Amino acid sequence: MFKITFLIGLFIIVSSAPSEEWWRDTFIYQVYPRSFKDSNGDGIGDINGITSKLEHLADLNVSAFWISPFFKSPMSDFGYDISNFTDIDPIFGTLDDFSKLITKAKSLNLKVILDFVPNHSSDQHPWFQKSIKRIVPYDNYYVWRNATYVNSTRRPPNNWLSVTRGSAWTWNEVRQQYYLHQFSFFQPDLNFRSSALNKEMKNALSFWTKRGVDGFRIDAIIHAFEDDRFLDEPVKPNTGLPANHPDTLDHIYTRNQNETYQLLRSWRNHLDAMNGTKKIILTESYTTLDELNHSMRYYEYGADIAFNFMFVTSFNNSSAPTDFKKGIEKWLALMPKGNYSSNWVVDNHDNNRVSARFGKIRADQLTMVAAVLPGVGVVYYGDEIGMEDTWLSYNETVDPIGCNAGPENYHITSRDPARTPFQWDSSTSAGFSTNKTTWLRVNSNYHTLNLAAQKTTPYSHYSIFKKLVKLKMMPVIKMGTVEIISIIDMVFVIVRRVPGTHPIVLLINFTDRNVSFDAANHLNIPTNMSVYATSSQNSYTDGMSINTSSLVLIPAVSVILM
Ligand code: GLC
Repeated sequence: MFKITFLIGLFIIVSSAPSEEWWRDTFIYQVYPRSFKDSNGDGIGDINGITSKLEHLADLNVSAFWISPFFKSPMSDFGYDISNFTDIDPIFGTLDDFSKLITKAKSLNLKVILDFVPNHSSDQHPWFQKSIKRIVPYDNYYVWRNATYVNSTRRPPNNWLSVTRGSAWTWNEVRQQYYLHQFSFFQPDLNFRSSALNKEMKNALSFWTKRGVDGFRIDAIIHAFEDDRFLDEPVKPNTGLPANHPDTLDHIYTRNQNETYQLLRSWRNHLDAMNGTKKIILTESYTTLDELNHSMRYYEYGADIAFNFMFVTSFNNSSAPTDFKKGIEKWLALMPKGNYSSNWVVDNHDNNRVSARFGKIRADQLTMVAAVLPGVGVVYYGDEIGMEDTWLSYNETVDPIGCNAGPENYHITSRDPARTPFQWDSSTSAGFSTNKTTWLRVNSNYHTLNLAAQKTTPYSHYSIFKKLVKLKMMPVIKMGTVEIISIIDMVFVIVRRVPGTHPIVLLINFTDRNVSFDAANHLNIPTNMSVYATSSQNSYTDGMSINTSSLVLIPAVSVILM
C-alpha cells in the first residue's frame, strides 16, 4: 500500500460554450466492413451485414459510425486501394444496399461517415492505366518523374521513402518514368496539381453526399501534396533504423505541405456549398506530440475533428500519469480558439487493440478517459466488448505491411491482429458469419468474450461502455472545467466541475499496488461520492458510496465518481 500525503500538478482548463452540432461530446464508432458482419456467408463482412446490425450501434447510443472503404478495389490493401471512387465493390454489395443502409441509419438517428481516400488510387484504376499511356488528361493524374542516372545506373528521382518502407518511387517500363507512392507500389499517389483530377475527387465527394452521407473521414491527408522541387529530404542523425525506414527522414517536403491545407479548405467549401445539413470532416493526420501544430492547422482549414492519436501512438503501458497529463494538456491548450471540438481516438484498424497496448486489465481505461474529457471519443468496433488482438501465424497473415516484413518481423508490423471478426455471440464464427472459414480467423476467445454474453453480465466492458456514452452527454462533461492531476506520478485524475454542482472525478491507479490518499482534501471534492462506473467490481460496485477522504485504489483500477 502506498499512502500519498501531498499532491502535484494541477491544471485547470475552462471549456468553451457548447455548440449544437450533432457530433459535439459524443462517441463516434469505426466500422471495418470486412469484419463487422457477413450477411451472405462468404466469410467477409458486407454492407447488408452492417445494416443488419445497426440496432447495436443505436443501442450503444453512439452518434455516428465511420466505415472504412467499401469501394471498388483489387483489395491489395483491403479497400485502401480504390479502382473506382464512386462504386461499391461486389464483395461488399451494391449501391442499392448502401441506400438501404442510409435509410435504416437515418431511422435510428445514426449518422453515416464514409472514408474518403484522396492521396492515392489503386494501380488498377483506369485513370492510372491511362496515365501510363500518357492519355490526356490522365497523363497528369499521378506524380511522374524522370529517372536520375548515377554511373549509368537508373535511380529514383530523390531519396523519398514510402510509409511501407523502401523508395517511394517505382519505375514504369511503358511510360519510362518513375511514379510516386507514399504507400505501397500498388497505391500510386494522385496529383492534385491537375485541375481535372481535383475536379474528379470533388465529384466523388458530391456523389456520396447526394446519396445521404453525413460526412467524411479523410484518409492519409498529410500526404496529399509534395513539394514540387522534389528535393531530397534531410536524413535524421542516429535513428538506429534501417536505411529504408521512413522514420530515418525528416519529411519536410512530403508531409503537411501548405497546399494540403488549402486542398482541405477547398473540400470544406465544396461540402458547405451543397444542400442539407453541414457535413462533418475528420482528418487522419498522425502527428507526434511535438508536431501538434499540424493537427491544429487541419482544424483551422476545415476539419471538425483532426484525429488526435496520442492514446494510440504516443502512450502505452509504460506511460506515466504525467505523460498523459502533459499530452492532454498540450492538446487542449493548443486547440485553436473558437468553436472547435477536441477528440480522443482510442483505437483503429491500423494499430494493436487497446488491450494489447495497455493490458487486458486496462482495456476500458482509455474509453473512460475519452468519456470524461471534453470533445469526441472515437472508438473502433470491438472496443465496447474489450476485444483483444488475435495471434495469427505468418501463413495466416494477409495485411500487405505484415507480409512485406517477412516471417521474422511480420508480428511487429501486421495490422491483422486488430482486424479479426466482431464477436457477436458464441455460435459459429462468433455469429459474424455462417461460414466456418472467415477472411481472418475469429479469435478463439469468442466462446466467452462476445457481445451476447456481456449483455447479461454486470460490469462487462459492454455495460461500462454504455455508461460512458451516457456520461458524455451530461452537462458537466459538455461545459465543466477540466482539471488534470497527476498524483506523484502514480494516480491519474480528471475532475470536471460546473460551479455550484457536484463534480465528476475519474481516478486511475497506474501502479500495480494499492494506493491510498485523501482525495477529498487534495482534489477539493465532496467527502461522500458514489461510484458511477468502475473497471473492477472487486473493488467497487456501481452506486456504492465512497468516503473520498480515505480512498483506496487497488492496482490498475479506474473508477468514475460522481
Ligand atoms: C491510412 C489507412 C490505412 C491504409 C493507408 C493507405 O493510413 O488508415 O489502413 O493502409 O492509409 O491508404
